[in-house]
Amino acid sequence: MRVMVVGGGGREHAIIKKLKENKDIEKIYALPGNGGMADDAECVNIGAKDISAIVDFAVENSIDYAVVAPDDPLVLGAVDELEAKGIPCFGPNKNAAIIEGSKVFSKNFMKKYNIPTAQYEVFSNKDDALKYLETEPIPTVIKADGLALGKGVIIAFTLEEAKNAVKEIMEDKVFGASGNNIVIEEFLEGPEVSVLSFTDGETVVPMISSMDHKRALDGDKGLNTGGMGTVAPNPYYTEDVAKICMETIFIPTINGMKAEGRTFKGCLYFGLMITKNGPKVIEYNCRFGDPETQVVLPLLESDLFTIMKSTTNGTLKDTEVKFSKKSAACVVMASQGYPQKYETGKELVISEDVKNNVYVAGAKIADGKLLTAGGRVLGVTAVAETLSSALKLAYERVNKVSFANAFYRKDIGKKALDILEG
Ligand code: AMP
Ligand code: GLY
Repeated sequence: MRVMVVGGGGREHAIIKKLKENKDIEKIYALPGNGGMADDAECVNIGAKDISAIVDFAVENSIDYAVVAPDDPLVLGAVDELEAKGIPCFGPNKNAAIIEGSKVFSKNFMKKYNIPTAQYEVFSNKDDALKYLETEPIPTVIKADGLALGKGVIIAFTLEEAKNAVKEIMEDKVFGASGNNIVIEEFLEGPEVSVLSFTDGETVVPMISSMDHKRALDGDKGLNTGGMGTVAPNPYYTEDVAKICMETIFIPTINGMKAEGRTFKGCLYFGLMITKNGPKVIEYNCRFGDPETQVVLPLLESDLFTIMKSTTNGTLKDTEVKFSKKSAACVVMASQGYPQKYETGKELVISEDVKNNVYVAGAKIADGKLLTAGGRVLGVTAVAETLSSALKLAYERVNKVSFANAFYRKDIGKKALDILEG
């Protein structure tokens, strides 16, 4: 089998490493991939948003199965176009990817199907939005409708901040057309849990839960990032919470999407907040999370490729999806300056004995050397019997990776450990 993975970050590297465990796969291409995963896949210089080039490549190279990992190509309809050429895919079609592509869609969807989420209003007119803010409690949350590189959510702690956010999104169009409509929603409080799930549109199988660390600096300080580290499982996701989520969120979401004529296949990511009134959906993503995937897939004991194909074929119900009882941790090493302007082109050295535990997100090969080429450069992962030993091992491995001015959080997993250890 010849498999193609669209995308080029740490998440894709984790997917590729897991896929390689299947002996039927003889070749894996990454589009575009990055220099740090060149030992695991053949990287092809085609951008993840260049749908027509992706489809041409797949046809010309007799690809048997395509995994479309990032949100952009999914929302742009990569799966529809590949399927039209007879290439089976892992991932939702455009019609279903809207669950992440439009926050207005997802909020209205949750309201219609009674899925617990923050109270909200939708606005397409700036003045109406500004007037509404006068009546709302602060803090409040303002979200641009469309994809905004993970930056379209503003938590406003004063009325002035809230008004400025509305003006920036709707008047200055800082997120372009993504800000033509906005959602203003209730500020929720509580621990956050990421639950990725496999689904074929009929059956939904949650993966092991995880916890992201979104802020750049220790103690949850600093700017929001794409994620500075993850642990799995997430201790806030107890069996009771899992049961409530299955009944009130996961199943109604899958059934609701089907009822809308938007059957969702692939990985549906539930971003949850465990509030004092129960679990609520903060966001849906139509894809694997990054860096959640880097802790979830190492704990998957069943064969990833078999599961992926079962989501495409509608046979997930009869497919084994088993997770280890161990724990996993991932520490992201970033370039100095990230998430703002950051340095690149630093020589990256990964000791041979930890290569299997490193998922590279931003690197390139130049003159035979590996150089950093992104904000988040890589994630260092470890699996162990307990979370505390997984964290210890992950941080030991961090010391076996080097590039100039690397920075990483020193407190990944601390909150989870505090819960576990009381
Ligand atoms: P999102 O891009 O939707 O994942 O939002 C980014 C982050 O903003 C989430 O992970 C939460 O930490 C926070 N957030 C989003 N919506 C809310 C809300 N209604 N109340 C509190 N925090 C929120
Ligand atoms: N780590 C958050 C996300 O993938 O959206």
